[in-house]
Amino acid sequence: MAAPRFHELEIAAVRKETPDAVAITFAIPDELGEAFAFLPGQYLTLRADIGGEDMRRSYSICSPLLETGRRTVGVKRIADGRFSGFAQTLKVGDRIQVMPPQGRFTAQIGGDHEYLLLAAGSGVTPCLSIAKSVLAGEPDSSVTMLYANRNSSSVMFLDDLNDLKDRYTGRFTLLHVMDEEVQDVEIMNGRLDAAKLETLASHGLIDPKAADAIYICGPEPMIRSASAAMAALGVSEDKIKFELFTPAPGSAPAASPKPAPNPAKVNGAKHGSSVQIILDGARRTIEVDAGTDTVLTAAMKAGLDLPYSCAGGMCCTCRCKIVEGSATMDENFSLEPWEIEAGFTLSCQARPDTEKLVLDFDAQ
Ligand code: FES
Repeated sequence: MAAPRFHELEIAAVRKETPDAVAITFAIPDELGEAFAFLPGQYLTLRADIGGEDMRRSYSICSPLLETGRRTVGVKRIADGRFSGFAQTLKVGDRIQVMPPQGRFTAQIGGDHEYLLLAAGSGVTPCLSIAKSVLAGEPDSSVTMLYANRNSSSVMFLDDLNDLKDRYTGRFTLLHVMDEEVQDVEIMNGRLDAAKLETLASHGLIDPKAADAIYICGPEPMIRSASAAMAALGVSEDKIKFELFTPAPGSAPAASPKPAPNPAKVNGAKHGSSVQIILDGARRTIEVDAGTDTVLTAAMKAGLDLPYSCAGGMCCTCRCKIVEGSATMDENFSLEPWEIEAGFTLSCQARPDTEKLVLDFDAQ
């Protein structure tokens, strides 16, 4: 299977969700319908030249599974976020490079399940897609969504969420948690952290142990805290799904991949490895100095267009298989143990350990 590639899509609609967030809808032409098929919870990677820099960012799809011919993502402006700021200026008719859906934070629709969705801020975007898809596609399933925000003006997709409440009464429960606005029900005030989740569970407002699947999306500290709380409440690990888009403060991924030499982790690495890249059936060899470059940064310097998105070890877009030789990753937030066992690595994090390294980007 070919590695993911960008396609130029036209923006069909832009909707202001909050003062600092928009929903951007792309028109999907018939010939790209298959390429842009998705599972609820996946994201699109957008690409643009911003101030002369080739930048990419991933944004979750909020569309329901059955929607055809359109895909909508939610983009919230973040402090100093050049891409998220640029996205707020996009308008209908603009064309932008978009990579087909990716991501493993997904729900397979079918069956009869209890879902618990824990979202904070723009983390509601994939949860909205999951909720819409489950409620429409699983008539016997129910969804409880706990949605944390600073205040009511920062709530994204409020109309969509209220519409789900009206349409699926008895199957969709929405609970808002706010830390800068006092709500009538005292227990719903404050931060969505482990203590809050334990309190809500003890009052029967959420029932994590009864859930068949728990999806958590938000800033990394919230994800860590909520995952720990779910485990403490007796939820088995295999029921908890989460996805990191934003790492902990201080370790934000670069707009474009930057070399991040880490001598402790490249112990034994070769300063001048020959790395053969297999991509779309073609082979090309580049030189990589593991002391200064990852495979991805070296490939970019060599003018090779490898697939990547976050450049931070989180999204798996740059996944490839080691066919010969070995490499060490600086970080890995996304590959599963079985994938590492099978020889997969992340090119944005990989530094060669051997004089020769062969990486297959077409391997699945
Ligand atoms: S580009 Fe996201 S993990 Fe490498």
